[in-house]
Amino acid sequence: MTHPLEQLRADALRDIASAEDERLLEAVRIRFLGRSGAVSEWSEKMKSLPKEEKPIVGKLLNEVRAAVTAAIEARADEFRAARESAAVANIDISLPGTPGEKGALHPLTQILDRSISIFRRMGFALAEGPDVETEWHCFDALNTPPDHPARNEQDTFYLRDGRLLRAHTSTVQIRAMQAAAPPIRVIAPGAAYRRDEIDATHSAQFHQIEGLYVDEKVSVADLKGTLEFFLRELFGADTAVRFRPHYFPFTEPSFEIDVKSKAVKGGEQWIEVCGCGMVHPAVFEAVNAARGDSAYDPEKWTGFAFGLGMDRLAMILFDIPDIRLFAQNDLRFLRQFA
Ligand code: DAH
Repeated sequence: MTHPLEQLRADALRDIASAEDERLLEAVRIRFLGRSGAVSEWSEKMKSLPKEEKPIVGKLLNEVRAAVTAAIEARADEFRAARESAAVANIDISLPGTPGEKGALHPLTQILDRSISIFRRMGFALAEGPDVETEWHCFDALNTPPDHPARNEQDTFYLRDGRLLRAHTSTVQIRAMQAAAPPIRVIAPGAAYRRDEIDATHSAQFHQIEGLYVDEKVSVADLKGTLEFFLRELFGADTAVRFRPHYFPFTEPSFEIDVKSKAVKGGEQWIEVCGCGMVHPAVFEAVNAARGDSAYDPEKWTGFAFGLGMDRLAMILFDIPDIRLFAQNDLRFLRQFA
């Protein structure tokens, strides 16, 4: 004779197998396993069974509960799998996908990256300083007299607290020397700001790479060799490089560098690309005073410094007619450099 629990199991398995959807299956689950379902009822009945029957019926009850639970889960899995394959049934996986749009580096970033990697090959480390600067870092420490026109409010953005937006990246020369004793060999790429009238070649924010090399016996020959190498790497091996005497307060002697290159449209003209010179002893003395030591003894150390206008370099190399294009985010312009 089959035990009623075995009959119950057979009924449950049959109902589970014939449940046609998830809702009907849930109804079966409640009927058998729910709080007042058939299996639960048997748990109640157990209490009134004679002591010797309890272990046998108890074991059977556990088996029935496990079998019914497993059958319901298996059936639910079937429904879930069917639902998932129905969801993708109409998708043609042989169709080509929607390509994601690929970005590209901004032309200015491309020239900046190329320039940085050339200097890194010559052993220059990267240095940085804040865009919001003290007047001391921007002018005084760089031997710029109090009446110099660059200090004028017409030329430089001043903040109410007396600080300013750096008018050049030469500030990082000072910061680098404050932070480390010589020898030192750094470049500092970054933004600079001037209150220029904005036009095709002037922007309130532009970009420079500053360079500084201080060691024993650094000479103008080192300066020339380094910058000629850099410019020929950037503009091509047959580029002509010319040094013209110039004046900067923080270098003595000072030069401007012009290049003439076939890589440039209208390559028969000299174009100015860089300011540079030998670090003025007054700059070393200002740094020493701030450091409170004489690490940069001008009798022992010499150095050269330079400043390259990156917007200008990118405009020359890519033949870009207007500096404002760099900041306008016009995709028709930017896509040409992708
Ligand atoms: N700071 C100068 C400028 O913005 C460029 C420059 C000239 C930087 C000579 C230098 C240098 O380091 O030695 O016009």
